[in-house]
Amino acid sequence: MTVLFTIFASIAVLHTANTTMVLETEPGQELKTIYYGTKLSESETAMLGSYKAQRTYPCYGVIGTEEAAFAAVQADGNRTVQLRIESAETTPWDGGNQLCVTCKDGFYPLTVKIHFKTFKDQDMIETWTETINEGKKPVTLTRFDSGHLPIRVDDVWISTLYGTWANEGRVNTEPLTRGWKVIRNIDGTRNSHTSHGEVMISLDGKPREDAGRVIGAALCWGGNYELRFQTNDSDYHHFFAGILPEHDNVVLAKGKSFATPHLALSFSNDGLSGVSRNFHRWGRKYMLRHGDQERRILLNSWEGVYFDINEDGMKQMMDDIASMGGELFVMDDGWFGDKYPRNNDHTSLGDWTTDTRKLPNGVPGLVKAATERGIKFGIWVEPEMTNTVSELYEAHPDWIIKAANRDIVKGRGGTQVVLDMSKKEVQDFAFSVIDNVMKESPDIAYIKWDANAPISMDFSNIAYWQGFYAMVERVREAYPDLTIQDCASGGGRANWGVLPWFDEFWVSDNTDALQRVYMQWGTSYFFPAIAMASHISATPNHTVFRTTSLKYRIDVAMSGRLGMEIQPKNMTEQEKDICRKAIADYKRIRPIVQFGDIYRLVSPYDNRGFASLMYVTENKDKAVAYWWKIANFYDEHFPRLRFAGLDPERSYRVTELNRLDISPLAYEGKSFTGRFLMESGLEIPATNNVEYSLKSDWSSRVLLLEAL
Ligand code: DGJ
Repeated sequence: MTVLFTIFASIAVLHTANTTMVLETEPGQELKTIYYGTKLSESETAMLGSYKAQRTYPCYGVIGTEEAAFAAVQADGNRTVQLRIESAETTPWDGGNQLCVTCKDGFYPLTVKIHFKTFKDQDMIETWTETINEGKKPVTLTRFDSGHLPIRVDDVWISTLYGTWANEGRVNTEPLTRGWKVIRNIDGTRNSHTSHGEVMISLDGKPREDAGRVIGAALCWGGNYELRFQTNDSDYHHFFAGILPEHDNVVLAKGKSFATPHLALSFSNDGLSGVSRNFHRWGRKYMLRHGDQERRILLNSWEGVYFDINEDGMKQMMDDIASMGGELFVMDDGWFGDKYPRNNDHTSLGDWTTDTRKLPNGVPGLVKAATERGIKFGIWVEPEMTNTVSELYEAHPDWIIKAANRDIVKGRGGTQVVLDMSKKEVQDFAFSVIDNVMKESPDIAYIKWDANAPISMDFSNIAYWQGFYAMVERVREAYPDLTIQDCASGGGRANWGVLPWFDEFWVSDNTDALQRVYMQWGTSYFFPAIAMASHISATPNHTVFRTTSLKYRIDVAMSGRLGMEIQPKNMTEQEKDICRKAIADYKRIRPIVQFGDIYRLVSPYDNRGFASLMYVTENKDKAVAYWWKIANFYDEHFPRLRFAGLDPERSYRVTELNRLDISPLAYEGKSFTGRFLMESGLEIPATNNVEYSLKSDWSSRVLLLEAL
C-alpha cells in the first residue's frame, strides 16, 4: 500500500496481485471511493484525478437524497451523522495490508473506524466498520452496513443465488436497472436456503464465465441480512450490504463498540469463474476449517434408513462403505432420546442421551465397530434446537425463543423450537452437546451439525448470532481437529459467516443428480468443491422421484466432496462394484477437485442440453472435466468440448473415469496440447455406448487430463 499525492490531497491505494482499490483519505473530509478494479500502476493511479469520487460509507441525515450505509440516533434525538476523517493508518499483515480509516462525528462523541484488509494472492479485499460511543449517553445504531461500493453505470448485470429447501443455490441473472433491487433474508438461523448474501456484479454486459470484468461480494454473516442496489439519477449504482437492522437496533452504552461482519469483495477480469477462483482460494486458505486437508469419502445414514437406527443396521452400513473403499460412516438423526425416543421428527431434540434400546453398546460400541473396519465414525447432532416434547423442554421451558404474551410458534414435526442462544446457560448447554459426545467417544472424527428451524418470533438476531459464535468458538477451541459439517435442512447455512468454524456444508437435502447440477453450479460461484458435500443416492430419488443412471449420479457427486447417501444393502453387487471403482477413481482426482481452480465451461442455465465444468491444479499439471447431459432428445448435436485453464504449451493425456462404454472413447489414452484442448476441443458422444440392458437417457463423462 502506498500513499500518493496527486490532485487528490491524500489517497490510499490498496493493491492485490491483480486488483487495485483507491480511496480518498483527506483529513477533515469524508472518506471517498475513487476506484476499484483491475490493477493500476502508479502513473495510472495518478490519472484517476478525473474520476468522480463517491462517499465510501454514506451516513444518514446530512445529504438526505442519498441512501445511507449508516444511521444512528443520539440521546437528544438527533438522527444525523456527519463523519470526518481523523486519520488513515496502514499496517501490513502476512497476507497483505490493512487500512483503518478513523472517522469522527463533527459534533457528537462518536467514532467510526472503516477497515479494509487485502488478501494479496487471492485478489480479495474485506471491508467492515467498527463504531465506538465515546460519549456518556447511549447512542442507538439503526443502520450499520458492512460496506458500500459505488459501481459505475453501464451495462451492469447481477447474478444472485435464490431457492428454497431442496432447491438451494439456483442462479438468477438480471440487468441492474434504475430503482432498487433488494435481497434479504429473515429466516433467523439459516440465511441461505432462499436468497443468498452473495452477489456477482458483471460490469461488461451479460455475465460470461471466462471473460469480462466482475466484482463478487459476500457478506460473512450467519444471520438476517440485506443486500441492496440503488440506482438513482447519478452515474453510479450504489451497492450496500449488511446485517438487516429490522430486528435489531444496536444500543451502544458509554464506551461500548459494535463491529459489523466483514464484506468480502473480489474483482476479476476473467468473468464469473475468475471471481469464483478467488473466493475459493481465499475460502480454503483463510475461512474454512482444514481447507488444506483432503476430505474423507463417507456414507451418511439418512436416506438409507432415516430414523430407523439400530446397531446391526449401522454395522451393516459400515461393512458396506468400508468394502467399497469409503473412509467414514456417519450416523444421522434417530440415535438419541430416553423418555422420548427419537423415532420421528416430533420429539427428543435436546435429549442427547443414546437410546440404548437401539444401540445397546452405545456410541462407543459403534466407534469401535468402525475402527475394526478401518474407517472413521461420525454422528449427527442439532445443538441449537429442542422439541416441546422433550425432557430438555420440560426442565427448561424458558430456554426457547418466544415472544412475551404470545403462543409458541412450532416448526418441524409440529414441536420444534429454537433455543435462545443469547443466554449463557444455553450456550453452555449447546457446547456440552458436542463435549459430552466427544468425551464419551474421543475417536469420533466427524460431526454433522444440523439446524432445522427458523426463528419465527420477534427476537434480536444479532444476539442469537453473537451467542452462536461464542459457543461454536468454544467447540473449536476444544476440538480443533474434528471435521464438522454445517447442515441446516440442507444448504441453509452455505455462507461465509458460518463456515469459518466448519469444514464443509450439505448442499441440499435434494440429492437428485440433475437438480444438483443446477444447485452445485450456483453454489460454486462462491464456495469451493472441498466444502460442497455431494452424495450418490438411490433412484427413484427420494425428493423428486426421478430415475437416473448410477453412472450419472456418480459423475455429478464426484464434482464435489464425494459421499454416499443410500442403503447399500439395496444395491446389486454390480452397482457396488461400480461405486467401488468410482471411489478408487475419486481418490485419484481428489486433490484436483478439492484444491483445484474451477473453470465453469457451459452453464446448465443456458439450456444447451448439457453442462460442463472442470478443475485444474494450481501448477496446471492435472485437470478433471465433467460433462453432463441435462435433457435428452433424439438427433441432438453438441459442440466439441473446449477446455479452459490448461497450459497451452503442455501436452495432456486424456483418461476417461467411471467408464461404462463398451469401447473406449476415440482419444482414450492419447495426448493433446493444452492449446488444442482449449481452442479445438474434444468430441463428446451424446450417449453412453453401453449394452442394451444398461441404456438410459442419462449420459455423462468424467475426463482426467494429465500433463506428460
Ligand atoms: C435435515 C438434514 O438436511 C438431513 O440431511 C438430515 O440430517 C435430517 N435433517 C435429519 O433430521
